[in-house]
Amino acid sequence: MRVVSADGCTITGNAELVRAATENVIRNAVSHTEEGTQVDVVLKHVPNSQGGDAVIRVRDHGKGVPEASLVDIFLPFYRVGDARERSAGGSGLGLSITDRAVRLHGGSVKAENSADGGLVVELKFPLTANETPAAKEAIPVSSSV
Ligand SMILES: Nc1ncnc2c1ncn2[C@@H]1O[C@H](COP(=O)(O)OP(=O)(O)O)[C@@H](O)[C@H]1O
Ligand SMILES: [Mg+2]
Repeated sequence: MRVVSADGCTITGNAELVRAATENVIRNAVSHTEEGTQVDVVLKHVPNSQGGDAVIRVRDHGKGVPEASLVDIFLPFYRVGDARERSAGGSGLGLSITDRAVRLHGGSVKAENSADGGLVVELKFPLTANETPAAKEAIPVSSSV
């Protein structure tokens, strides 16, 4: 796993949940791909009219996910065919936990297949303190890895 770049940014929320959300995605990128293939992680500050987002993009070089399953992989217990037969991964809960944790911070997560192979998962957290349940706990989460 290689952190390609990391902008400095601080979001407000529950550090443990943000860590778990990100870790589940990175673990998938490692465990659902061939050994020795690269996993790239980028943290970007993306400005917008509401103060901007912290965007974490995790990119691997595996087979990706069938287009028809790109939304379903965030459902509890959903696993794509060959992952069910292999020991790779876990219970099929990781991405549903990620989705829940990101939403609790007012953010979102999506997956897409990269044009040249591999899965790209993007987690987006708003940088401005907001009224979401997690943000009310007001624990700053910094970008230091
Ligand atoms: N990086 C990836 N490459 C290929 N398939 C993936 C990747 N990440 C997730 N998946 C697919 O999405 C399913 C759901 O992921 P997740 O909820 O983390 O469950 P699991 O416990 O199987 O890792 C996985 O079983 C796998 O089929
Ligand atoms: Mg997983």
